[in-house]
Amino acid sequence: MKIIAGNWKMFVDSFRDGEEIVRAAKKEALRGGTRVIVCPPFPLIPHVVRLAGKSIAVGGQTMSPEEKGAWTGDVSAGLLKESGARVVILGHSECRARGETDADIARKVTLAVKAGFSVILCVGEKSRDGDEGGYYAEVRDQLLASLAGVSSRAAAHLMIAYEPVWAIGTQAIRAASPQDCREMVVFIRKHLSTLFGQRAAFRVPVLYGGSADDRNAVSFLTEGSADGLLLGRASTIPERFASIIRLAHSLL
Ligand code: PGA
Repeated sequence: MKIIAGNWKMFVDSFRDGEEIVRAAKKEALRGGTRVIVCPPFPLIPHVVRLAGKSIAVGGQTMSPEEKGAWTGDVSAGLLKESGARVVILGHSECRARGETDADIARKVTLAVKAGFSVILCVGEKSRDGDEGGYYAEVRDQLLASLAGVSSRAAAHLMIAYEPVWAIGTQAIRAASPQDCREMVVFIRKHLSTLFGQRAAFRVPVLYGGSADDRNAVSFLTEGSADGLLLGRASTIPERFASIIRLAHSLL
């Protein structure tokens, strides 16, 4: 079963816009056959949980590495869980760019799994300029450091999103190619096997993110060997998000 996850970022800035996306996605999600996840901004989560029902899982876009205390602006794993979220995105490049370190992310992964979340851990190189495959080392280092201290048992609650930074958002040069994606999926699995053993590693879904949309979704999910997609902009346009879910159904 493919996974279609939407990271609404701060694109969705009203309850009404959120409702429209959920309504369109729910119609498709109810047909079954695809695991659909939406990650709204925090204040929208309880509302989206009520609207989405059981057909769509709801996630946070980040959470605090601390359990509780004087951390203005942070949201704890416990409160996020109580708001109805069951998934959390960790290590998104937009959070890393604001100073989140691999060590912070590793603490968050451990806390999130302990709180009962499924984690979407994002990794991806900043660029592919000027070296021969140096980006592989960058992704490997992120992966190993962000999963430091995470047990094989926790791997059952993990998804990895390969999101090359150069392919994300309106500044993107282009989406990665399905070939880029496939090579990185194999590479990530190899390192997950070293960390968690082959059996556990092969159960960890690897998603692709970065300018994925309705035109290239199928090629990432087939040629690209991705188990799913983490969508930004495309997940905030109701018809587009719904049509990507529909495409994923057909790939079962
Ligand atoms: P994009 O964002 O689909 O808008 O490129 C992807 C992401 O950041 O998850």
